Amino acid sequence: MEIFAHRGASSDYPENTILAFKKALTLPINGIELDVHKSKDGELVVIHDEDIQRTFKGRGMVEDYSLLELQSFNCRKFEFVNNELCKVPTLEDVLILIKDKNITLNIEAKTDQIHYDLENDVLELVEKYNMKNNVLISSFNHKCLNIFKSIDSSYKYGALYEAEKDFASENNVVEHAKKLGVYSINISKELVTKEMVDLAHSNNLKVYVYTVNAPIIMRKMIEFDVDAVFTDYPELMLEVLSEK
Ligand code: G3P
Ligand code: CA
Repeated sequence: MEIFAHRGASSDYPENTILAFKKALTLPINGIELDVHKSKDGELVVIHDEDIQRTFKGRGMVEDYSLLELQSFNCRKFEFVNNELCKVPTLEDVLILIKDKNITLNIEAKTDQIHYDLENDVLELVEKYNMKNNVLISSFNHKCLNIFKSIDSSYKYGALYEAEKDFASENNVVEHAKKLGVYSINISKELVTKEMVDLAHSNNLKVYVYTVNAPIIMRKMIEFDVDAVFTDYPELMLEVLSEK
């Protein structure tokens, strides 16, 4: 089973920052997950929310700030750490950081609230660093995945599903993902069942589960034979995996 550091090693470092990604790279894990939006001046920036307020000492929407303005804000948590490494990074900063590492980067296109028109830019940047084979592109916005696919269908794409939405039966999810033609079902831990995992596997689909932070859920995911978990606690996940 693969381990993805969710927003980097985000239990100990500010999420979606170079510091959190650097820590993740010190661990024997398989991937890093991050979230991408677009700034006012068209830069692909790595941050989770549409609004900067939860993670940075400022207010306002990502789309209303230029990159320079966004990078003037300090992160809200973990004040003991090096401030320069916990500004809003660009996707390019992260690609440069990981390009020679044997690790998968899961780029989540956060286009479900605001559609930023970022698909071409993301693929161009990934290709600039020759990272096509090390990238999984995901989104809750399945229309956005279709746009990505229309540009280049040879990437690995992951369809995100959340528990709050109407995907109650495993059959629904697997059928939906099959129709979308994605590589993986990226699903919340509340929705995943052993039956779904088996059905997905028999349909040649991977199952990646978020956000798996508690040991009891980690063990359950191992039992379900999921392909990967996203966790804020990659070190804890490594410990749980070594119990076997
Ligand atoms: O990609 C898995 C997970 O990150 C999706 O949820 O809200 O943490 O971006 P969220
Ligand atoms: Ca995410």
